[in-house]
Amino acid sequence: MGAVEIKPGIFWVGAIDWAVRDFHGYVTPNGTTYNNYLIVDEHVTLIDTVKHDFAEYTVENIRGLVDPARIENVVINHIENDHMSSIGQIMELAPNATIYITDRGKKGLDRFYDTSRWKFQIVKTGHTLSTGKKTITFLETPMLHWPDSMMSYVKEDRLLISQDAFGQHVASAARFDDEYCDQYSVTALEHAVVDYYANILMPFGSLVKAKLAEVRKLGLDIDMIAPDHGVIWRRDPAKILNMYLDMAEGKAELRVAIIYDTMWHSTEHMTIPIAEGIKAAGVDVDVIKLRSTPMSVAIKKFWECRGALIGTPTLNNIMFPSVAEFLQHLKGLRPQKRITGAFGSFGWGGGAVKEAYEVLKSMGLETVEPGIQVQYRPSIDDDHKCYEFGKQFAGKVAAYHAALGGGQAAQCKP
Ligand code: FEO
Repeated sequence: MGAVEIKPGIFWVGAIDWAVRDFHGYVTPNGTTYNNYLIVDEHVTLIDTVKHDFAEYTVENIRGLVDPARIENVVINHIENDHMSSIGQIMELAPNATIYITDRGKKGLDRFYDTSRWKFQIVKTGHTLSTGKKTITFLETPMLHWPDSMMSYVKEDRLLISQDAFGQHVASAARFDDEYCDQYSVTALEHAVVDYYANILMPFGSLVKAKLAEVRKLGLDIDMIAPDHGVIWRRDPAKILNMYLDMAEGKAELRVAIIYDTMWHSTEHMTIPIAEGIKAAGVDVDVIKLRSTPMSVAIKKFWECRGALIGTPTLNNIMFPSVAEFLQHLKGLRPQKRITGAFGSFGWGGGAVKEAYEVLKSMGLETVEPGIQVQYRPSIDDDHKCYEFGKQFAGKVAAYHAALGGGQAAQCKP
């Protein structure tokens, strides 16, 4: 792809992964990029590396600009493998470089590499590094989304290099938001942002809010945000900041996601009158069958909607395995400000709907009870009951949404 100058003397030198479809279990139908940046100044400085399979690409991009042996500083904003695992190749080419990293980053790096021959400078929030004409200020962002995480701000260019935050899993020839929107669409980019946030940053909403407030307090004037995945925000970085503020607040659409699985189609049949009841109450609805949908897609759907109904047949007195797996995954993401319920079919003893409610409550989510259960096969009378259940649930979702201030999550229109 070749290096791309993003600011005078600052270059994207990363790699595009057009082929990845499973990013540690997260489905990435549009691939991703591993972004890293080279500051060509009096003291050549590399910020982040790339996933190890792509080391040769970043090295070639660097070689197109300078001899890699000239790299004096390497900033490691984050030690997850997709950003750090070319460090061995970089340090072979620039063995005298100093690595700038947080204390937790250094301790983590020690678990992956023999670092005894590398020089380190441990940094904290507010520490700076002069590259000559430019100054990098470090900002620790622990648990956004790893304990070691930090960002790097280049004052002279008003550039925030934000590691995973503000990223998107999209592979494209476009390096910037405006180019991507011209080639694809604004909506495609918005969906990529929400998908990434829901699957990676959802558990850290309160930390996102606090860190954005800290950035404001530090008075950092930001003209461009360069994340470690996807496109760089240059047309209007305030848009992505506003999207993150909204998502960190838990904003959602007035909409219901019916997320279910089924054994012999009885639970699946129930989704039809329930969805009709929701629609009749004036609320939009999505219906997602778990075995037909990647987990990360179902998670994104859950996150976009203010309400969710979980449908599960009973199997051996407990939830159907794919539904249990979804709820387990969701629990780890610690969703907030969503209202939920459950429904499903059973043969004799039942138990799945009760268990689904227990899990939903254990997450601290609002619930509407009781759920609705059908034995063996829904009758016409059961269809009517399901329709009414959907209608009533939609009413509760609308009331809950209004109590939270209503509105939609901010749209990103760069
Ligand atoms: Fe893109 Fe946390 O790694």
